[in-house]
This record gives sequence, C-alpha cells and structure tokens, in this order.
Amino acid sequence: MSQTHAIANDLHTDNEFLSDVLNGLNSSPKTLPPKYFYDAKGSQYFDDICSLPDYYLYQTELDLLPIVAQDLAKHIKQQDESGLEIVEFGAGSLRKVGMLLRAIPQINHFTAIDISHEHLISACRTLESQYRELSITPCVHDFTKPLKLCSTARTRIGFFPGSTIGNLNHREAEEFLNNAALTLGKHSYLLIGVDTKKSESVLQRAYNDTKGVTAKFNKNILHRINRELDANFSLESFGHQAFYNAEHGRVEMHLRSLKSQTVFISGEPIEFTRGESIHTENSYKYHPPEFNQLAKRSGWSTEKLWLAPQDQFAIYLLKHRD
Ligand code: TRP
Repeated sequence: MSQTHAIANDLHTDNEFLSDVLNGLNSSPKTLPPKYFYDAKGSQYFDDICSLPDYYLYQTELDLLPIVAQDLAKHIKQQDESGLEIVEFGAGSLRKVGMLLRAIPQINHFTAIDISHEHLISACRTLESQYRELSITPCVHDFTKPLKLCSTARTRIGFFPGSTIGNLNHREAEEFLNNAALTLGKHSYLLIGVDTKKSESVLQRAYNDTKGVTAKFNKNILHRINRELDANFSLESFGHQAFYNAEHGRVEMHLRSLKSQTVFISGEPIEFTRGESIHTENSYKYHPPEFNQLAKRSGWSTEKLWLAPQDQFAIYLLKHRD
C-alpha cells in the first residue's frame, strides 16, 4: 500500500463535529449530517445491513456487476501506457471493486476514498493480499469534496456504487458530480450505482428490516455523539423511523423522540418535544431519465446503462464531456 495515512487529510476535527451536530440540532426541523454515521461501529452495522435480504440494493447491484465489468472491459480502451486507475468514492468494505479488478486486467492502480479510517485501512490490507500486482492508495477523505490525486496521465474510472449518490440531495448530487469530474480529470469515466423508484412497500421494507439492524445503525450516531462529544442521549428514548416520501422521491430516515426531554451536548441543552424528529438521512431514488438529466447538468453523459431484473437497480457508465 503506498501510503497509510494517505493524501490530503482534511477530515473534521472534534470541533467541526461538535459544531455540525449543534447546528443540525438547533435547526428546525432538527437534522444530523449522515457522514457521521460511519465510525468503526457504524461501518460494521452498515456491512450487516448489506447482508439482509430485505435490503435488496446490495445483492441486486452485486449480481449485476459481473456483467457490467465484462462489458466495461470491452468498452474502455486503454488510452496510454500507464494503465487504468479506479477511484472508489465512499469505498466501505471494498467487496464490489474486486469484480472490476478481476474482469479488467488493465487496471493497475486503485485509490480508495473513505471517511472511516480504520475500516478503510483494513479493507485495503485485505485487497492488497488478494491483488499483489495492484498499487493501492487508501485516502481518508470526505468524498463529497474534491481531491488532488497523486497519480498522473492515467485514464481514470470513478466508481460510486451502492446508491450512495441517493444520500445527497439533488443540488449536492450535482456538486458531487462536478467535483468528481475535477478529481478524475480529463477523459474520465464514472461507474455509478443508483437505486430506482419502485413500489413503496419494497422501499419501506429495505429501510425497516425485521432484525432491527437499520435501527441500530441509525441510533449509533447518538451513541457516537455521547462518546465523542460528552453528551447524554438515552438511546431508548428515541425510535428509528424510515418511510418513503413520494413527493420528494426519497426514503427518509428519522430518529423520533419518544418523550419530551432535554439532552446535553458538551454542556449545551437541546430540547425535544414528544414525537419531534431528527432527520438523519435521505435516500433518493431515480428513474433512469431523471438520473440522465441530473448527470447531464454536471457535464456527464450516459454511455451505458445496465438494469437489474424488474428494473430494481441501475448502474450507469458516465463519460465526461471535457
Ligand atoms: N446509500 C445506501 C442507501 O441509501 C446505503 C445507506 C446509506 C443506507 N445510509 C443508509 C442503508 C441507512 C440503510 C440505512 O440505501
């Protein structure tokens, strides 16, 4: 692995975490930035969510990826001697990228960007032991922000699976796509997995699994605030809630206060009325024409689209109009 602590580490300091949390909880309605879900424990819960049958997104995308990887190998011509680089945004456990690495032998460099430090380093170690020839750069970074990559002159393919783009609102998604173009440079591609709009009951079940793992994942953010910001949230006094908001085309996740209560965060009181919610995350869903339009507004055009059976999930290959 080239660098452990990697490039441009501009992650939050504790103060930034504190000010983000206080800003969010002092707004109306209350919110918390979802990037703080992903401490070591949160990343682990998220991996657990991915193995739940109710959470169809993970397996559906995984089943589609071998076909995508084969088509991609044919589609992308090597543009120079220095090979191909894959840059994964929000890399997580790196289970998906292996499918691309196996099918596309020209890939000789892999940059993994993720906010969760330990999780990223251990995932990169595992990958390194499987792909000895590959040079790997882990990069602890908030993937929504642009980043200066150290390699030059390679054709880069951005990889953004898991419908993580759905966790950004439309404006943020456009901003992400603009920044990804800057990070990846000229002649780049972006392979991106996006969940589709579908029956409400299927969507609802995916974010309300019967084992309660999603609830634990959602509440973990409160646990983290308690631990890192000297707060006293009682986790039993908040309930997990997820539902599809058809008007906005998104699943919303909330933590609902089960009683009226005051919580202290680093000495600052935050009042909750009974039933008041903290909006913790959105997961936007896109019909393919809607997503093509969004990409187009940020200078990307769709070169290929792969759809899972019953249009359950979509993977797009975007190319940047430099
Ligand atoms: N991006 C995925 C989605 O929106 C994964 C995800 C993010 C998620 N946060 C989540 C899944 C919270 C379940 C619960 O589905």
